[in-house]
Amino acid sequence: MTAYELFPLADLEPGSARRVEVDGRPVAVIRIDDDVYAIGDTCSHAEVSLSEGWVDAEDCTIECVAHGATFDVATGEPVTLPATRPVPVYEAVVVAGTVVVTVAEGGEGGEGAGS
Ligand code: FES
Repeated sequence: MTAYELFPLADLEPGSARRVEVDGRPVAVIRIDDDVYAIGDTCSHAEVSLSEGWVDAEDCTIECVAHGATFDVATGEPVTLPATRPVPVYEAVVVAGTVVVTVAEGGEGGEGAGS
């Protein structure tokens, strides 16, 4: 597992998402209040960037701009169709004001991350 320091939390508005490349993988970093989440940025329905979608801070979901599937930002699981498969989840924390995302080397990383 490798931790990557990405950017200051202050650079990401609450209720928004940003696409970053982490170890060659597209990752959507999502901020809800002062919590951050990191999931695979590519919608599991088609090749669309989830970070271009809309964050729902109450439901803790992000909605794909293409066909409206929503994903739980904490688990990566699809909440609504047409997506049926989860997207990877990565550990995301804020350390001294900086967003830090941890990914496993070489793999798709992901689902159920945290150990
Ligand atoms: S590409 Fe995301 S819902 Fe279709």
